[in-house]
Amino acid sequence: MPFHIAICGKGGTGKTTLSAVILRLLIRSGKGPVLVIDADADGNLADALGLQGVQTVGTVLDEMEKKASQLPPGMSKDKWLEAKLAEVMVEEKGFDFLSMGRGEGPGCYCYVNSVLRRIMDNLENNYPYSVMDNAAGMEHLSRRTTRAADVLFLVSDHSLRGVESGARIAELAKELRLDVKEMGFVINRVPGTMDPVIRQKVAEKGLKIFGSVPEDDQIKRFDLEGRSLLELPDDNQVTRAVREMVEKIL
Ligand SMILES: Nc1ncnc2c1ncn2[C@@H]1O[C@H](COP(=O)(O)OP(=O)(O)O)[C@@H](O)[C@H]1O
Ligand SMILES: [Mg+2]
Repeated sequence: MPFHIAICGKGGTGKTTLSAVILRLLIRSGKGPVLVIDADADGNLADALGLQGVQTVGTVLDEMEKKASQLPPGMSKDKWLEAKLAEVMVEEKGFDFLSMGRGEGPGCYCYVNSVLRRIMDNLENNYPYSVMDNAAGMEHLSRRTTRAADVLFLVSDHSLRGVESGARIAELAKELRLDVKEMGFVINRVPGTMDPVIRQKVAEKGLKIFGSVPEDDQIKRFDLEGRSLLELPDDNQVTRAVREMVEKIL
């Protein structure tokens, strides 16, 4: 079983950005290969990592629903799905990437999802670390594709609303009895120093802050230029802040 790192939080708070920076750090410190999963159906982690033309697991599941009755003779659904997943998996230096996407089909993918779950469970064993960028709406938490995490980062911007959202996700994780070993906030886009109001709010919710990440122009430039965040320099202030935070946890 890999060490599971899950990244959650309200939309636009920086989940994808931080997922990419955490991945960069793991790769550079020789902790790869890392299994990277974009569990956000509207996600753009592939873009943040400079990957193009990525197919999603959702499209594979759709295809499977359509072709269920006409698989090649002698091939089980499991085998077929496993082969297809291997096709949509993007293999890069230091990490493999899988985008969950969403199925377009009307029905419930219960059967296919359980097959997927089993294959993922097997697949995971090949990696010492996994990083999962989750949807804001937490569909995957409630659908239980994120069942376990060694660390769950609740990403919030420097706002009370961000903290409120993060705290709701923490509640949900508890209600669903997810197997989360450690959970805490990352306050992102902090302008200068963190306002005491934010600390107070987090404490009120009975949660902790793993670290804070500054507002950074270089991150914005990379985004505008469509550059991979894996190319961020070591001395970038977001890289540094994430390193400091992650080193305390891993
Ligand atoms: N620390 C930061 N400094 C400056 N811009 C940031 C920072 N973190 C994220 N951003 C920008 O904020 C926007 C939303 O970030 P993103 O990671 O896509 O959020 P999410 O995945 O939570 O929706 C992006 O344009 C990103 O470049
Ligand atoms: Mg995102």
